[in-house]
Amino acid sequence: MALLVIDDLAKTYDKVTALTGINLSVEAGEFVTLLGPSGSGKTTLLMSLAGFTTPSKGTIRLDGKDITHVDPEDRNFGFVFQGYALFPHLTVANNIAFSLRVRKWEKARIATRVSEMLSLVGLDNLAERKPRELSGGQQQRVAIARALAFGPRILLLDEPLSALDRMLRETMQKELKRLHRETGVTFVYVTHDQEEAIAMSDRIAVFNHGRIVEIGPPRDLYKKPSTRFVAGFLGENNFLSGHRADDDATKVEAFGTRFGFPLAKGRERPGDSLTVWVRPEDIRIGQATGDEIGFRATVVENAFVGALERILLRTATGEQMVATLRSEAAVAAVPGQIIDCRIDPSAIGVLPNEASGS
Ligand SMILES: Nc1ncnc2c1ncn2[C@@H]1O[C@H](COP(=O)(O)OP(=O)(O)OP(=O)(O)O)[C@@H](O)[C@H]1O
Ligand SMILES: [Mg+2]
Repeated sequence: MALLVIDDLAKTYDKVTALTGINLSVEAGEFVTLLGPSGSGKTTLLMSLAGFTTPSKGTIRLDGKDITHVDPEDRNFGFVFQGYALFPHLTVANNIAFSLRVRKWEKARIATRVSEMLSLVGLDNLAERKPRELSGGQQQRVAIARALAFGPRILLLDEPLSALDRMLRETMQKELKRLHRETGVTFVYVTHDQEEAIAMSDRIAVFNHGRIVEIGPPRDLYKKPSTRFVAGFLGENNFLSGHRADDDATKVEAFGTRFGFPLAKGRERPGDSLTVWVRPEDIRIGQATGDEIGFRATVVENAFVGALERILLRTATGEQMVATLRSEAAVAAVPGQIIDCRIDPSAIGVLPNEASGS
């Protein structure tokens, strides 16, 4: 049985529907990320899990017990919220000890636990500092240690790294992953940063307009998204218009070429319009071989962006497409020239257009 089961949860504020039809199960020890644009309901769900927000509908179960209306302090969850500041007048050690004192732990046990937590987050030498004497990253580590100290069933984190600069954010991402591994605690993590979600999660629940659009391991969502929203939200993508061939509905015609694409249960009819997507890193230069999909395109622009070149192409149908290539491979991409390009068929996605059925 899953540790946490959310069933048909909804939250409405006056006229605003913040969440609807949320179903999500989280296994013990999992790292699940709630990812989505601003206002999509991530914080509302986390607050409902924490017990700070009362859902309008649905249930939350922990170990099979209904906790939808249980007080926050009786849920035994740890929180690391953005702006959920450290106590400024307490030392690092006392910040971490705070939740243990509230839970009436014995003094000696508190001392042992505080020093364990300090070494877990690598702050052994800073126990007596006050929060204002710490860097942003160090403060965040204390906040995490404080939330983990009492041994929560689940750690809820709402954009805990968003105030940190890029370098520190990446360091802290690794740190959080390590803490997750070492403690075995279940993490429910909120972010609107898709790279962070991909790098950290066992599974990602992608939110849009108060709903979970898709849920799955990062690799599956990235490689095989089943919605246009996820195909565009997770990583960079090219969307091109296409259609089922008039003479053979098993074939797709798009960007001036034609290729076979497996049918979804005979729904497609000849001529049906489609959206074809292909990621910039999956477009290569050169003649297609084997079952590769070949097409010709005009190079519009070639920009050096560090490790890779970003090539802007114009297809035979007049649409634009971005390809990212390593510099050696990009020398052939001279602006103004028409070049041969190729794509592995497994890298192509085809989505039905709204008008031609789902
Ligand atoms: N207390 C409230 N009263 C009224 N509306 C609210 C309240 N809290 C949230 N909302 C609305 O609910 C929706 C979801 O908000 P929520 O904070 O869950 O989004 P989010 O996904 O966390 O966004 P962000 O990435 O910006 O933090 C938004 O439209 C928001 O305006
Ligand atoms: Mg939020």
